[in-house]
Amino acid sequence: MNKRRPIIAGNWKMFKTKDEALEFIYQVNVQVPDKETVESVIFTPSIFLRDLVKREGENLRVGAQNMHELEEGAYTGEISAPMLKSYGVKYVIVGHSERREYFNETDQSVNKKAIQAIQHEITPIICVGESLTIREEGTTDEYVQKQITKSYAGIARADVLKTVIAYEPIWAIGTGRTATPEQANDTIKMIRKTLASLYDVFTADQVRILYGGSVKPSNIASFLQQSDIDGALVGGASLEPASYLALVQAATE
Ligand code: 13P
Repeated sequence: MNKRRPIIAGNWKMFKTKDEALEFIYQVNVQVPDKETVESVIFTPSIFLRDLVKREGENLRVGAQNMHELEEGAYTGEISAPMLKSYGVKYVIVGHSERREYFNETDQSVNKKAIQAIQHEITPIICVGESLTIREEGTTDEYVQKQITKSYAGIARADVLKTVIAYEPIWAIGTGRTATPEQANDTIKMIRKTLASLYDVFTADQVRILYGGSVKPSNIASFLQQSDIDGALVGGASLEPASYLALVQAATE
């Protein structure tokens, strides 16, 4: 395991009711390992944030799956960074591939959201990743490099360590088909190299970069063993307390 503290991020997407969400937090709060060993964060639908943030324990944090790129305005149905901050939310996912695909998010909007989150002391988890067509064409590196470069436009060196990156190849999300740990590590190394060219090697070496896409308790160790993978962003396998706890446990070993 490398020196960067791992993050096990659970992305619930549009699942669970209020009671199910509360039950999960009650169970996981008391069993999750110390935050100095592994950072455990659950990204819930925004309607649950208020109840769950109140109940989050010292070692389990709750984050938002999305937010708007502006402070405030006439944007019906949207939620801003100041609103999240006012409820004590400290993490937000930006640019998940599902939001890019179904809600027209672009690298530019992802960039604005990341900047907005940093301004409000919320850690953005910036998601990048290629489609199957791009992977098969052999242009993954160029594609992801461009996503990173655009996402970090205007983000100062001093703020880079306030961000986290999640590399999620779209073809591995919810498909049961993972990238091989080596494939994931190679792309994540390339992301680090891109950050080194945008900023410097020292900064790039400290940024935490997660892998996401069909991660489960049975395969997480193979990803965490890689030199450049600092944790996981997990969908399906983060929904049940036992499964999420097994993922977190793997990051302590
Ligand atoms: P799965 O773990 O269900 O493949 O989802 C990955 C993901 O999209 C997490 O953000």
